[in-house]
Amino acid sequence: MSIAEQFPYKIELHVHLDGAIRTETIVETAKRRNIHFPWETIEELKTHLVMSAPPYHLGALLEKFHTFMPVVAGDRDAIHQIAYEFCEDCKKHDVFYTEARYSPQLFANKMSDGSKPPYAHTEGDITPREVVNIICNAFEKGSQDFGVKVKSILCCVEHAPEWSNEVLELCKEFKPRGVVAIDIACGDLDPDVPHKELHTRAFQLAAQYGIHRTVHAGESGPAAGVRLALDEMHAERIGHGYKVVDDAELYERCRRENIHFEVCPLSSVKTGSVPDDLDKHPLHRFINDEVNFSINTDDPIVLDNDLTSDYEMVMKMGLDKEHVIATIFHAARSCFAPPEEKKQILAELVKVYGEKYMKM
Ligand code: NI
Repeated sequence: MSIAEQFPYKIELHVHLDGAIRTETIVETAKRRNIHFPWETIEELKTHLVMSAPPYHLGALLEKFHTFMPVVAGDRDAIHQIAYEFCEDCKKHDVFYTEARYSPQLFANKMSDGSKPPYAHTEGDITPREVVNIICNAFEKGSQDFGVKVKSILCCVEHAPEWSNEVLELCKEFKPRGVVAIDIACGDLDPDVPHKELHTRAFQLAAQYGIHRTVHAGESGPAAGVRLALDEMHAERIGHGYKVVDDAELYERCRRENIHFEVCPLSSVKTGSVPDDLDKHPLHRFINDEVNFSINTDDPIVLDNDLTSDYEMVMKMGLDKEHVIATIFHAARSCFAPPEEKKQILAELVKVYGEKYMKM
């Protein structure tokens, strides 16, 4: 049985919509919009984007986004297409429930404070709010058409704390349309980032409003970022969080409080966030200590992965089929779907994999 066939129902909790755009959609969109783009074929662009050789670091991976985001930002049809195709790709890989995350500001061509849009070349009428509206429309249609459940997480951006309050407001407004949580992305949560109180405040209010919270922390930055995420931002899940194993007391606390870690195996290697020797990957500790974690792709466009290939990677690292299924159940229990929907997802998982994993 192939790896794909062994896991006919997958769940993904950590994937960036802008990191999961199809390469062909970027090439096509550049042509349609007459945007000068040095990579004319899918193969050329792929070769440029995919992180293929060390040394790996997070900054180099994030740099790649500057290549293609200007092609799609501020284009209504492209934004819709990307989100709709994302749903189709979920179906293709048997990902039946997922929470895709993105920063509304990075796709916009009109900023609410009148500043220059970060990626779009020309200004227009696509505000961050309109971005969320377009993507919710596409996720609703795509979920219906492909028989999957695709929710949204809206990201604050670490170096743009001035956007965080708007992100929070959008989370509130679009909660009825499948926006389930707030995140902070683009690099690691750095305890020393200037004006981080604007981020912190948005997360504290999110907790008050009943909006779920996940935070990128302890990926390439220190374990202290995980502590900050938990103490000051009320994070329920941690994006990556590998460095937590460097702080024994914090690690114990995360186990005790059943904090969920969104582990991205290939990404962790290609951002240089884990030791080169995969036997020392924190994933082994997580498995041995029964930590609550899931397996995720993060950014397929620059990593050239899918959920099956990440499952395959961890199986090569020594996890067996039961371990992987247990992580799918962890993902279901720690997902941000409303309680009724979560119950339904767990019931579907039990149908596919059996009752015993409910106890694991
Ligand atoms: Ni991420």
